Amino acid sequence: MIVTIDGPAGAGKSTVARKLAQRLGFHFLDTGAMYRAVAYGALRAGVDLSDAAALIRIAETVRVDLQPGRVRLSGDDVTNQIRSAAVTSAVHHAADQVDVRQRLVDLQRALAEDADIVTEGRDQGTVVFPQADCKLYLSASPHERARRRQREMEQRGEGVDLEQLVQQLSERDQRDASRPVGRLQQASDATFVETDGLSSDEVVDRLEAIVRACRRGGHRPE
Ligand code: DC
Repeated sequence: MIVTIDGPAGAGKSTVARKLAQRLGFHFLDTGAMYRAVAYGALRAGVDLSDAAALIRIAETVRVDLQPGRVRLSGDDVTNQIRSAAVTSAVHHAADQVDVRQRLVDLQRALAEDADIVTEGRDQGTVVFPQADCKLYLSASPHERARRRQREMEQRGEGVDLEQLVQQLSERDQRDASRPVGRLQQASDATFVETDGLSSDEVVDRLEAIVRACRRGGHRPE
């Protein structure tokens, strides 16, 4: 069974997708981590990120492995490095390249073959798995998303102004929604879940109920 979760940055997708996969006993695929790994690979190799051909070469030559809770790039554990501010601001270069996307989409499909999977990103229900058994779209208000991002950063010892985060998220939304291929978009058959004011466990409860309804044959609770 394939469950897709799409939505904007800061909607809390990764946390709830991971927990949902655990509850269901499914694999979890963090596709944003793949784009981040390619961007980090390019930064590490000293590649000019605006050089599309060089970026595509990196995507074609590195090996991205997702293991439970860890991300490896050609064998090196890069789990922490791919979450740095430098990678967050550079990753759109990788996500904007159609050839980079195609390579990662192929990898995502290969990983989902014959597997029960919860996959999370921007284009999972629209481009990568249009035939998914259950599609979810998560969002939250800009303020709530910025607060969550701020808490995550504080936990890593990084302080940042809330208004600045609201601004950064709005710029990322703009980029994610306007890329010609793989843009952030709710699939017409996805169930929208608004996560404002809900704990991650409460969100997972809702998602689990929707997935179980999908399994039973298409009926989705409100
Ligand atoms: O979810 P995230 O912040 O880790 O994603 C990192 C970047 O990758 C973000 O700018 C959007 C992009 N992305 C994408 O274009 N398609 C996906 N399936 C997942 C992420």
